[in-house]
Amino acid sequence: MSNLFQRIFNPSKVSLELDDIQALILRSRPVPYFGTNVLLHIDEPRAGKELIKKLIPLVTSAKNWHKAEEATATVAFTFEGLKALNLPEESLKSFPESFREGMAARAAKLHDVDENAPKHWQKPFGTGQVHIAINIIADTREKWEAKLREAEEELKKISGVKVLLKADFAATEEVKNVFGFRDGISNPEIEGSGVDEVPGYGRPIKAGEFILGYPGEAGTVGYYPQPDILGKNGSFLVFRKYHSKVHEFNRFLQKHAQTEDEQEYLAAKMFGRWRSGAPLTLAPRKDDAKLGADAERNNHFSYKDDQNGKTVPLSCHMRRMNPRDTKQAVISDVNLHRIIRKSVSYGGEPEKGITTDDGKERGLYFIAISAKAMDTVEFLQSQWANEGNFINHGDEKDPIIGLNQGKGVFTVPGDIRRRYNAIETFNIMQGGEYCFLPGLSALKWISEL
Ligand code: HEM
Repeated sequence: MSNLFQRIFNPSKVSLELDDIQALILRSRPVPYFGTNVLLHIDEPRAGKELIKKLIPLVTSAKNWHKAEEATATVAFTFEGLKALNLPEESLKSFPESFREGMAARAAKLHDVDENAPKHWQKPFGTGQVHIAINIIADTREKWEAKLREAEEELKKISGVKVLLKADFAATEEVKNVFGFRDGISNPEIEGSGVDEVPGYGRPIKAGEFILGYPGEAGTVGYYPQPDILGKNGSFLVFRKYHSKVHEFNRFLQKHAQTEDEQEYLAAKMFGRWRSGAPLTLAPRKDDAKLGADAERNNHFSYKDDQNGKTVPLSCHMRRMNPRDTKQAVISDVNLHRIIRKSVSYGGEPEKGITTDDGKERGLYFIAISAKAMDTVEFLQSQWANEGNFINHGDEKDPIIGLNQGKGVFTVPGDIRRRYNAIETFNIMQGGEYCFLPGLSALKWISEL
């Protein structure tokens, strides 16, 4: 068995300025993980800059992305945050429109409507109050607490910056989310990071798709925020907080499948993987825990021989979010819609099989990173999660993240094709923000403005 920390680092393949890039972009999520998200509001620009100056030595660069020795600390800004730091007008104008508008204003494009609409979000999301987001994550409690303590010490010394929210998250060795499924498995590799190819992860994708200032898949360097020192080596991060209704999911499984094995099978059909992480493609009939835990095998598959979805339904969460080599009814280049996911679970798994709400807060902090993360998540949300046209499934939505509201449908092709009705919204959106993830020299530049 191997986990992703053993990915092979080959220094001769490095062409990115790793020591200027924030580690979160390249580093695998630790196994197990402990961490905290902190959201801040800047009352005075001077205080904000002072804080950034103090935080810079704590922020982790990607220089040692392949090692899990230290906690990773990340600092990102909303557009309102960059304004509160008095960035020059010219620079502010150079950010993409979606980022300037912010996530709440883009609700229609994200399909965050009805029960997911910003008016239902938890404060402070979508209010314009969130300016700085800090993420600290480590593979041991001690490393996490030590790094958090250091950040909190710096925060205490500064008046003029308020903590709006501080939220912990964690997962055990099996890195299961609150539904009991191993997650964080499939992420694209980035060319120039020094990574040696891992089976199943496809060819590394051109750096410019994920890190600003480098050529992308089209061979050219895309436009990025200016001046150069601000944009280069930065990226964008989409943060979305979900509350998961695990009891509704269990109720759905129990209503539609008789035995526990049948329920597990239906659940795997909805995600595209079994709870262990084993992909349905490689383990079509029953879970295979060894395969699920083996990073060298658990993402090594294609949909080439399953074009009608008899093994992995076209409509399941994982296949929608990355159709790989599925022949799509509406053609699009899959490699242009990849995101780096650094999502983490909070609240822990509930009691096995619960079918009533235990009232506990639990779910996922969805974290997606790319040079055009806002566009990509808006595309995924509107075209692949809340629509079915690209797979010839009409208006059928993703059974896990679609806004299904009790009216959802899920088609499972097979020798006998089955359609399941009355799917609820199993994951409710509770708020989020679009963030800019600057490089380390950009952080210094901002702090010295
Ligand atoms: C609470 C909400 C969510 C849950 C419980 C969830 C769960 C999962 C699980 C269990 C997997 C398979 C394991 C893995 O590769 O990590 C997965 C894969 C994935 N999910 Fe989600 N997810 C959620 C939200 C989202 C959202 C909002 C998006 C994008 C808008 C998304 C995009 C993806 C992608 C791109 C993959 C990888 C597919 C692949 O490369 O094969 N997920 N998710």
